[in-house]
Amino acid sequence: MNSHNENKLRVSVFGAGYVGLVTAACLAERGHHVTAVDKHQDVIAMLSDGVIHIYEPGLQELISSNLDAGRLRFTDDAAEALTGADIVFICVGTPTKRDGSPDLSQVEEVARTIAVTCTHRVLVVEKSTVPVKTASWIKRTFNLFSSEPDLYEIASNPEFLREGSALSDFMHPDRIVIGVESEWAEQKLRQLYADIEATVLVTDVKTAEIIKHASNSFLAMKISFINMIADLCDKTGADISLVATGMGLDKRIGESFLNAGLGYGGSCFPKDVNAFINIAERHGVDFSLLSETARINDHRIDVILEKIYNALWVAKDKTIAILGLAFKPDTDDIRHAPSISLIERLLGEEARLHLYDPKAATRVAALYPESPSVKYFETPYQALTGAHLVVVVTEWQEIVTLDLDRSRKLMATPVMVDGRNVFDPTTVRLAGFQYYGMGTSDEPE
Ligand code: UDX
Repeated sequence: MNSHNENKLRVSVFGAGYVGLVTAACLAERGHHVTAVDKHQDVIAMLSDGVIHIYEPGLQELISSNLDAGRLRFTDDAAEALTGADIVFICVGTPTKRDGSPDLSQVEEVARTIAVTCTHRVLVVEKSTVPVKTASWIKRTFNLFSSEPDLYEIASNPEFLREGSALSDFMHPDRIVIGVESEWAEQKLRQLYADIEATVLVTDVKTAEIIKHASNSFLAMKISFINMIADLCDKTGADISLVATGMGLDKRIGESFLNAGLGYGGSCFPKDVNAFINIAERHGVDFSLLSETARINDHRIDVILEKIYNALWVAKDKTIAILGLAFKPDTDDIRHAPSISLIERLLGEEARLHLYDPKAATRVAALYPESPSVKYFETPYQALTGAHLVVVVTEWQEIVTLDLDRSRKLMATPVMVDGRNVFDPTTVRLAGFQYYGMGTSDEPE
């Protein structure tokens, strides 16, 4: 652990959600003195006792140890959090409105709070994903609500954390993007990240704001692209895994984010793609490439349902085991998880569902409580018992390492639809299953 020294800064983090908590805990671990503030008193009370309300590997321990070391504290009092702060991070939510544009009311509220509360020079940093030119709006809010708006300077420092590996992404990033308006702001942020080894890219604020949306949208586009190739492989008998390997070996393309399957979910990609489409529209730029990216992703659920119906003919009164409910492994997050649309559609067909997820089952049960049609299980094997078909939705370790012999014996009819292409088709077929992947060509005649 790092001991306090004069190079360490006093940091306030507004928003104790996913991004805010990871930012607060990691900066405290790097020796800075961090106060995280959130208006939800119940959340703050739990956090102050070291109990966190989200699942992220290692985060609970990091928060507890930094609370104990006195480098991290939580409060619902903005004035207390701002006292003496060198840097204020805005990490509040930016959910999507009905028209696809981001709802920035929480960002505006933080800007207003700073304007009426903070009486010393401070660097205000956007970390939430915000549309380009949000910094200008924050500045206008300072001008409107503060008698000394020049005290505050604004910067953009987007986060690129992935759920499930957020701590290591924070500590070992590919790059740190710093969008600033002055040398002073640049030096402050360089000082903040001095202990983290990474390429630092310094830009103006608008450029940094765009880098975040552009990066996430590009990755989402890569996924939709490979999913279309998967559909083509399905129709032609080619093998998507090898196509992706063949493409990825070209360094200009790169091997990551070429896993075909059920498409992207989570709290970022779907939201950011829609926001970027909206931003482009508002600036008169035709970004229909991204509208197609989103449309292709939405259609993935129809692709997998077609495979399920192709295997079962009729889903009514069949038992279908869904393995994995979280939008990806190592998280309990079910926002935009394909499992939810799948459950909804299969219940519409009057199928009986056996659901399993090591972390996310409670969240799904809040939406779909236990009933004669919906049952939750503690292990994948219990979920497979009596099932006519298994759909692999999330590639948790305990799912990709299933004992196939044992699984086959437990199932009523051994049929697997592999929504993430994590199993080797030949191995699964040799184990006695009918196997359907996403772009691996269907069961041979
Ligand atoms: C993403 C970005 O990676 C991160 O930089 C940003 O800060 C937040 O959004 P996250 O949503 O946590 O992170 O998950 P990520 O691992 O990027 O996966 C996003 C979605 O894409 C998941 O649903 C995943 O299953 C899907 N995916 C990913 C694919 O379908 N295929 C791939 O090849 C990769």
